[in-house]
Amino acid sequence: MKIIAGNWKMNGSRDALVNMVRALQDIDTSNTVILCVPYTMLGVDGGNVYIGAQDASAHDKGAYTGEVSADMIADTGARYVIVGHSECRAYHNDTNDTVRQKAAAVIAAGMVPIICVGETMDEKQAGKTMEVIESGVRESVPSDPDGDVIIAYEPRWAIGAGLTPTNAEIATAHKLIADTLDSMGLSNTPILYGASVKASNAADIMSVPNVGGVLVGGASLKPDDLIPIITSIK
Ligand code: PGA
Repeated sequence: MKIIAGNWKMNGSRDALVNMVRALQDIDTSNTVILCVPYTMLGVDGGNVYIGAQDASAHDKGAYTGEVSADMIADTGARYVIVGHSECRAYHNDTNDTVRQKAAAVIAAGMVPIICVGETMDEKQAGKTMEVIESGVRESVPSDPDGDVIIAYEPRWAIGAGLTPTNAEIATAHKLIADTLDSMGLSNTPILYGASVKASNAADIMSVPNVGGVLVGGASLKPDDLIPIITSIK
């Protein structure tokens, strides 16, 4: 079973989510489909798809104006939370340490974190891709987690840019992530690929070893874009 997770970022509305859920009701797939939506859309009934959030506070509760705790997210019925997305790393200064704390909070709340790692263009050009990915996994994934985790490899230079790495580059990154997870005792952890996934490249990317699913941004917003991705992945 493959995982297809949509990341709506700061887009959509409750009505748009209801429409998407309705459009996804009757599609013929054995894949797990997750829609990670803004906080205001949590609580909408996902039908046969899972609803998730896009971030969670590292803190349990208290004087953290504007933050939303993992328990509050779980209280809406959400099952997954993206943590460490490149936009949160870039705009909110999330570090591997913060991401690990957020992931631990998500697990403690009974949900599954989708932990993102990936290199920037500067890091890629400096030949640091492997180092950034490995330290991203080692430092962002809680050791000995008391629940499931999902990793998403998202080359930060490719997100939203219409760029994708070659299948060979994806294979190298995913092998490194799988080996790193093995060494941490987390062998069966799904590893998603994310960045510029669309209907025309999803099945091809899924053929790469150690790719267990996709994290889809822009192409997850409209049923006409998302459904062909879901159905192209067997
Ligand atoms: P994209 O975004 O598919 O629009 O490149 C992916 C992501 O940010 O998760």
